[in-house]
Amino acid sequence: MAIIQFPENMKWGTATASYQIEGATNEGGRGPSIWDTFSATPGRVLNGDSGEIACDSYHRYEEDVAIMKDLGIDFYRFSVAWPRIFPTGTGEVNQEGLNYYHRLVDSLLENGIEPMVTLYHWDLPQALQDKGGWDNRETIDAFVTYSEVMFKEFGSKVKKWITFNEPWCVSFLSNFIGVHAPGNRDLQLAVNIAHHLHVAHGRSVQKFRALGLDGEIGFAPNTTWLEPFSNKQEDIDACRRGVGEFVEWFFDPVFKGSYPQFLVDWYATKGVTVPILDGDMKEIQQPIDFVGINYYTGSVARYKENHGNLDIEEVDMGYEKTDIGWNIYPEGFYNVLTYITEQYGEVPIYITENGSCYNDEPGLDGRVRDDRRTNYLKQHLTALKRSMDSGVNIKGYITWSLLDNFEWAEGYSKRFGIVFVNYRTLERIKKDSFYWYKQTIRNNWFDV
Ligand code: BGC
Repeated sequence: MAIIQFPENMKWGTATASYQIEGATNEGGRGPSIWDTFSATPGRVLNGDSGEIACDSYHRYEEDVAIMKDLGIDFYRFSVAWPRIFPTGTGEVNQEGLNYYHRLVDSLLENGIEPMVTLYHWDLPQALQDKGGWDNRETIDAFVTYSEVMFKEFGSKVKKWITFNEPWCVSFLSNFIGVHAPGNRDLQLAVNIAHHLHVAHGRSVQKFRALGLDGEIGFAPNTTWLEPFSNKQEDIDACRRGVGEFVEWFFDPVFKGSYPQFLVDWYATKGVTVPILDGDMKEIQQPIDFVGINYYTGSVARYKENHGNLDIEEVDMGYEKTDIGWNIYPEGFYNVLTYITEQYGEVPIYITENGSCYNDEPGLDGRVRDDRRTNYLKQHLTALKRSMDSGVNIKGYITWSLLDNFEWAEGYSKRFGIVFVNYRTLERIKKDSFYWYKQTIRNNWFDV
């Protein structure tokens, strides 16, 4: 047995995102987002599911806050639906949208839970997509205006801000691999979009500073770790590209004001270039207060000619997998965290997402015995502690997710919550992992 003890100032939390939990897509003056459109397109989301009702948190947020209070978390990470604030992306602010988030934030604060707000967790107003979405630089201006409205409106109550959740997913997954909204398959488009997200991030950070608000701002890229299958140079290079597309591509511009040359050269061989305008890199390289790290999985990989955009393939090593088919790979968590610290210094880090998909349902006694999720959490928190002992500057940990919810292209078929949601009755049931996490938060340690 080993005791894994965390420092006294460690902060604990859980996370959700607007489209995944709110429902009420046609209420409160909300305009349509690209995820409403995508879900309504046959073949895009499993079983034709959509976020129309989701967990109905728009109406049940008080119940959810009570669950969080019981859990004993320090902070709750949620996202704001841009189309609730600007139904068509620009123009008039929708007061009803602001009111909803005031009710939520007030309820959190009354219950001693600090809000951490993500401005963009993928629900782009459809009206902006109709004009080219993130490929159009006008969307950058629209985002900066939206973020400024949010900073002004909530700056006195919200002290932790995240501009973008997982810009890799917004760009590469949604516009090259095409499995998320808007579902394009075009590498140049993905690279354009990644660049525009960077610029939007930098400008939004500048706005935050210009307003003189106290509080912290950062972004939340998704990370992974790939271990070369062999010590052949081609496998090592392939893994470097694979990790680089998640890490360097999104960290270098922000921390160094440039793109990683080895990947710029690689994309050039595919005829793809970054559409950098004068002044962009300076705007992107704004000091940030923390970086949010999302980590779920990693793998062993090797070179494979003409495979995807990076000539790399994953090798199935027979690792145990979660119910979404992702390897359980806690070493990757440790490796990527120490790698980031080596590359970018001891930047303060919040783990803004880490969690697992297990589809356990309530037993006859109503209890959800999701021991596999507890195990996953134990393994990843142990890897996290290992990284902290190795000098990674971890400020807090947030597990994904508070609730089972709309898992994007997988619809409701994949459950990531520490709280079970019955999608017919919308009843919430705390899973065994919820009680384990609650105890861990209370103790600030656990044993393995
Ligand atoms: C996203 C979440 C998602 C989770 C599990 C992350 O990519 O930020 O919205 O539900 O991973 O797939």
